[in-house]
Amino acid sequence: MKLFIDTAEIHEIEAAAKTGLIDGVTTNPSLVAKAGQPFEKLLLRICELVDGPISAEVTTVTAQDMIAQGKTLAKLHKNIVVKLPLTWAGLEACKALSEQEIKTNVTLCFTEVQAMMAAKAGATYVSPFVGRLDDIGQDGMALIRGIRQVYDHYHFETQILVASIRHVDHMRQSILAGGDVGTLPYKVFQQLLSHPLTDSGLARFMKDWETMKG
Ligand code: E4P
Repeated sequence: MKLFIDTAEIHEIEAAAKTGLIDGVTTNPSLVAKAGQPFEKLLLRICELVDGPISAEVTTVTAQDMIAQGKTLAKLHKNIVVKLPLTWAGLEACKALSEQEIKTNVTLCFTEVQAMMAAKAGATYVSPFVGRLDDIGQDGMALIRGIRQVYDHYHFETQILVASIRHVDHMRQSILAGGDVGTLPYKVFQQLLSHPLTDSGLARFMKDWETMKG
């Protein structure tokens, strides 16, 4: 399973990239606005830090405008993936960009039907938002299992990019459900290895080792 980092904060991307275990980056307009840097400059800096797919979301509304903005974003760097909303306009743009070999990530997916439509439009990735479904009392992880079933049954090649991950157990369930990619906020990325038995086990090993040396 591939691991992406879901942030536009350069210091977080730098820190995560240092582990050598980050395969890509996802951003969205809210994350970019929070980072407070010019969009294109920010994307180029991210592309320097991580050699993998970097999702950059369009901020336009019509299909024609999304196609034009998508082409501009894709020209910035070979690793840019154009992120498009799961709307009719977004899927029209997805189809047009995919036909031009531009990689796409269709975002804001909340149902298996939407995921099937994104795949039919040629999306490279689809981003189901598990945390936001949990927030409204639904089961976000059931959606991942459902999309996996649909894509396997119909042999769609679109990759399931599990998004809106809020905690490590979302990641655990994504792995078990057969997600292709998990995109994590930096805080969750930092918690991936945390386990009290790992900590206490290591403390015990080090203590016993000291005793032997003595
Ligand atoms: C993914 O591409 C999105 O940027 C992100 O995962 C959304 O997460 P949120 O629901 O925590 O904002």
